[in-house]
Amino acid sequence: MQTSFSARVLAWYDQHGRKDLPWQQAITPYRVWLSEIMLQQTQVTTVIDYFTRFTARFPTVQDLANADLEQVLALWAGLGYYSRAKNLHRAAIMVCQEFAGEFPSEQAELERLPGVGRSTAAAIRSLAFQQPAAILDGNVKRVLARHQGIAGWPGQTQTLKALWQAAESLTPSSRSRAYTQVMMDLGATVCTRSRPKCALCPVQHDCIALADDVIDQLPGKKPKKTLPVKTTQMLYIEYQSALWLE
Ligand code: ADE
Repeated sequence: MQTSFSARVLAWYDQHGRKDLPWQQAITPYRVWLSEIMLQQTQVTTVIDYFTRFTARFPTVQDLANADLEQVLALWAGLGYYSRAKNLHRAAIMVCQEFAGEFPSEQAELERLPGVGRSTAAAIRSLAFQQPAAILDGNVKRVLARHQGIAGWPGQTQTLKALWQAAESLTPSSRSRAYTQVMMDLGATVCTRSRPKCALCPVQHDCIALADDVIDQLPGKKPKKTLPVKTTQMLYIEYQSALWLE
């Protein structure tokens, strides 16, 4: 009998997972939230410097809430997707005004914060509060689509639902923080979009995409819009084998 999915990825985490990232030190909900927003569309290597500068300038959520948006945007400059910085500032103010400066630990309350969706809320719950909450960011979608053989484009409701179901059922009830981190790490370093390193993967033996040799087809791509077929009628004159046009 094979050990469970989570036991195998957790054993891999203990050996190979990243444990020295700045947001993995002195863990607080504020630092976890800030790093998760930065990491939504930006790679770890880029985020590290920004995270360090941000937390030096704004050590607490109160400091961030009290800052001018201009200051926040100036510190964000270069990270891109600037709506994230505006949402960040609005969310900090909301935490201070509506939650007395303490980050909420419940899914629904976290999702009320601007910029925090289902997966980011779950990441905060698991990384900051050590709750068993399932995440499903882009990296995890790729790992699960392949391992579970879930075809279809994740932008489609049905496919997304199947992926969330897989994420929920595989998330263990203990070691949630390590599990969340390792799923991100696996997606970023092993189960990469192109040329994944399947030989290094702790769950290669029951990976459906690997067995079926469809790794490069999962997750499914956004379907191309088919060009509409249109019909029309035209009148033309043929006279003495010539086509008469005006
Ligand atoms: N991507 C999103 N969240 C992350 C995290 N906590 N560590 C590494 N990569 C991530």
